[in-house]
Amino acid sequence: MDQKTIEIVKSTAPILKERGEEITKEFYRDMFERYPEVKPMFDMGKQKSGSQPKALATAVWNAAMNIDNMENMRAFVTKVGEVHVKSEVKPEHYPIVGECLLKAIKTVLGADEEVLNAWEKAYGELAKFYIQIEEDLYKKA
Ligand code: HEM
Repeated sequence: MDQKTIEIVKSTAPILKERGEEITKEFYRDMFERYPEVKPMFDMGKQKSGSQPKALATAVWNAAMNIDNMENMRAFVTKVGEVHVKSEVKPEHYPIVGECLLKAIKTVLGADEEVLNAWEKAYGELAKFYIQIEEDLYKKA
């Protein structure tokens, strides 16, 4: 990833952290509305209590800060990956999450094109990292 993208992602990460739960709540609302097929995968109790939006917001912040050294996140991503594998998360689900997350960032923050493009690139890299780790976990299972 280019330096400019890394700089934009890292410099906007604190705003995302501050408003992370707002963004992830909007994300789930929009995703469940437009992609109802993924809804049964999620535990609605965790949605109601807010623990799932909080976990996703923390993971996104964590990813932003480590975007230029994803290996730092391997242990964390492996733990989340184990939860994903149990929930049967597959590579084809990642573009859905990416699209809805970007849309929520745009809606909540009113972020401009440059910021959104940087986050789109960052999400793409992050998704590849998750998918790779989960592929290994599926092979082992
Ligand atoms: C890079 C993108 C993603 C990140 C950063 C992420 C992050 C997380 C985190 C932090 C958790 C909580 C793990 C725990 O309980 O310890 C989680 C759980 C979960 N994720 Fe993801 N996730 C991503 C992509 C996806 C995708 C593509 C799907 C499929 C639509 C998905 C579905 C789930 C489900 C079903 C759970 C279990 C929680 C529940 O039952 O509500 N995630 N994810």
